[in-house]
Amino acid sequence: MRFINRTVNIPKFYTIRIRLYTIKIGDSQTEQVESVRNFERMNFHFEKMANRPELMWLGRNTNHLPAHPKVRDAMLDCIRNEDYHVYAPPFGLEELRRLVVDNLGLDDMAALITDGAVAGLYHVCHTFLKPGDQLITTDPTWEWTLKFAGSIGASVKKINIYGQKFEYRLDPARLRTAVGRHCRCIYLIDPNNPLGTSCTESEIAEICDIARSLDAYLIQDCTYRDFAFQHHLAAKFYPERTITIWSFSKWLGTAGLRIGAVVANSDLVETLSQSPPNILGSNIVSQRGAIQGLKSRSDWFPQVLATTRENQALVFKTVNDLPGMLVPVYPSDGNFLIIECAQAGISPEVICRLMDQHDIMVRQGSYHSERFGDQFIKVSLSVPRGWVEQFCRLLPNVVHQAKTASLGDNAFWGWGNNSFCMNLLTYMRDDQPANKRNCRWILN
Ligand SMILES: Cc1ncc(COP(=O)(O)O)c(C=O)c1O
Repeated sequence: MRFINRTVNIPKFYTIRIRLYTIKIGDSQTEQVESVRNFERMNFHFEKMANRPELMWLGRNTNHLPAHPKVRDAMLDCIRNEDYHVYAPPFGLEELRRLVVDNLGLDDMAALITDGAVAGLYHVCHTFLKPGDQLITTDPTWEWTLKFAGSIGASVKKINIYGQKFEYRLDPARLRTAVGRHCRCIYLIDPNNPLGTSCTESEIAEICDIARSLDAYLIQDCTYRDFAFQHHLAAKFYPERTITIWSFSKWLGTAGLRIGAVVANSDLVETLSQSPPNILGSNIVSQRGAIQGLKSRSDWFPQVLATTRENQALVFKTVNDLPGMLVPVYPSDGNFLIIECAQAGISPEVICRLMDQHDIMVRQGSYHSERFGDQFIKVSLSVPRGWVEQFCRLLPNVVHQAKTASLGDNAFWGWGNNSFCMNLLTYMRDDQPANKRNCRWILN
């Protein structure tokens, strides 16, 4: 085996160093990519996307509709006045903390401002779980929380809720039979990402009852609550141990500003306040924007919601005309829809790749579920109407093309599926055709 260090010069933005080696396979001598670290691969993928101004983001549930001018002005003022020289208060600006609990209607509870919902989830897992505990959730789910729990040594159990059989929702009776005595935490994404279903009030009451019977924590991840037709907070039924996670990324459209909240009773918040990762306060510019966002919410958000739902309707109608394709949950309580493509014999990754060629990013199901990831793509819709129209215009042709695309071509899409190789393939194309072939082989 021969090792070669090679620098690949990538047009415009990137230079990465990779290590290539040569091995013999049968008669053919091939060079292959070795030791490209996962974090490099993942970051490269997202960096590349972030540097495509033409990209239409229909895959990350982010909100791309114009912000309320007051939100922009509040942040610009904060920058102009250079208010950012100080650390923000450790648990958030008081006005923001108050607005958060008011908005959720959880008046007796306390809010901690976090660096996005994800940081809240990380902190909650690290504070309340220990090795040997079990966290129970649904499949599909949002995988990062599971990784946080796993990193502490907790085990994760998933309840399958995918398919017509389960109506894409968690039946509390199934939760009751699935939980065991080690269950320390129920992680409920409500509305569910990616499915777009949310729990009824009686389901929430029953889930709370189950959590109480185990003395378990109930994390209700309400990142998409603002898009739901109806939403019911578990904290009202089980205030003792419910931890409500909320995000500004999706409804306010501030994903890049990293701001979210954890809301719980004061005892739990007291515990959480002992060692939060953001003890020096969250981004003060973002917090000023979030305050204005909450204050101007009733003027501005209804239009965002209306656009999101009109976009949903357009996608639903388009998909309905395509044999074998299906939107199984409609309308969705999230700002996204899943589109099933398995009946049409199409791989989600191929659709993603073909859409990407038209500067449209949609999400492959495998991001959310190893087991059901081959069934669907997810399209997020709090985006300009023109993006959705373009997606709908292209979809019939993309479906047609996807039916004839070779499986070999689909191995590289989505960073979880070696998209980095796809990028490498692209960049090495002119330079090293042999590397292109071999990279495909090794990372398949
Ligand atoms: C279910 C769920 N929870 C949490 C997050 C993270 O949200 P934030 O951007 O506020 O960190 C996401 C982001 O997609 C999500 O889908």
